[in-house]
This record gives sequence, C-alpha cells and structure tokens, in this order.
Amino acid sequence: MPLLATATGNAFAHVAYLAWCADTGEAAAIDPYSIDLVLETARANGLTVTHIVNTHEHWDHAGRNAQLRGATGAQVLAPKAAAGVIETIDRTLAEGDEIAIGTGCRLRVIEMPGHTMTHIGLLGEGEGWGGGEPFLLCGDTLFGAGVGNVGYGGHGPTLFATVDRLRRTLDPRTRLYPGHDYLARNLAFTLRHEPDNRAARALLETIGATPRFTTMAEEEEINLFFRLDRPAVRAAFDQAGREARFLAIRRARDLW
Ligand SMILES: [Fe+2]
Repeated sequence: MPLLATATGNAFAHVAYLAWCADTGEAAAIDPYSIDLVLETARANGLTVTHIVNTHEHWDHAGRNAQLRGATGAQVLAPKAAAGVIETIDRTLAEGDEIAIGTGCRLRVIEMPGHTMTHIGLLGEGEGWGGGEPFLLCGDTLFGAGVGNVGYGGHGPTLFATVDRLRRTLDPRTRLYPGHDYLARNLAFTLRHEPDNRAARALLETIGATPRFTTMAEEEEINLFFRLDRPAVRAAFDQAGREARFLAIRRARDLW
C-alpha cells in the first residue's frame, strides 16, 4: 500500500503518516500531530482520512485525535491498553488485529511495550515509501539509530525484550517509520561511542532536509542498542549481560 510521511520539521521532529488504499483513496492517519499538515497532504493526494491510529498514549501522538476527528469524521483506533487514557476510542487494538483501509490497505497490529506499556506497532507491506517491501510504523519504540526513552511511563527491561523480539522476528528488509526523525542526532551518539563505525559515518553524511528511513538490516550496522555484543560497545558500556548494556546505553543517551 502507499504510505506518505508528513514531517513537521519542528523542534520535536514529529513525523506522522498517511497509509491509504489506492483503489478508494481512503486513508489512515497514524499519530497525527500537525493536523493542518496531515489534511493538506491528504487533500494534495486526493485522499479522505477515514481512520486515525495511535501507536501509544503520549500527547504528541494521540493528543490531537479530537481535532482531526472533528475535521474529518474519521474513527479513532488506539491500543486496548490505552483505553481510558486516550479519549474517544472507536476501536481498540491488540496483538494480531488487522486494520483494513478501503479495499487494498491492510495493517497488522503488533504489541511492542517498553517506551510506554500500551505501545503498538503497525506492520504493512507496500509500494511508494514502502518500496514494495515490508514496513513497520513504530511510533516511539524504534528510531533511526536509536530506541525510545523509558522515562514517561515506560520500562527499560520491557523495551529491551521488545527490541530483542523485533530483531529476531522482523524481516531484515523491514523499513522503519518512526514518530520522530532523530536519525542525525542518534548517529552522532553512535559515533560518540563507536567512532570507527563507518556505516554510521557514511549515513550521517548523506542526511538532507527530508527524513531518511532505515531498514532493520541497516539498524544492525548503526544502532548501538542493536550492537550490544560488538567489542567497541562492550568496551564503552562495561556491563555484564546484554540487558544491562542496553539499559546503560539508554541512560547515557538520556544524559547526552
Ligand atoms: Fe512517546
């Protein structure tokens, strides 16, 4: 299915997405933040926003549902575990659920707690930004060269387990579409601790004004949270065990 990113370029580098059905023009807005930008992008592409989908309960992902719902009449879909926290949910989502947009767009829900305990991701496959390959709308769980924080309702060991599971189960070609474009800053963090990481350095040099989205295979080369057994990472974060190193990297990134 086609997928479009709407990057705000604001201080939080929010990125929202439109996934749509090429046959009917019906679209799902995922984690809409700048409602004007989402509506403008939908209009420019001849799309009707029929669904709003939240990956988790944080205000910068779910806080503007009512505004977009009011403007479009779209139904709100959100994690089951966030019911009562996110207002006005029309349909709750849990592991294995499928979201159908029009006739040609399917998104599958996977639960991936850690950044918050309600967090879900949306798996799809498609053309356009997806390039015909699998993709994951991953909210604040995975970022380019990083992972989400755990300081606002999250839990570090749970995030470690989620990232570990995603690494084991996702197709390496899966392209990641996160809720924020932190790639450049995260690559600088990688290079701070792994200065000889040539993949990170090369990618950093190519980054321009529009977001660059990575695949799971690329993340293995540039993301310290994926590289827990690499000698440079073990030396920089001298902790026994993969989970302990993951948590130490998370703390270092929080302070950086
Ligand atoms: Fe968040």
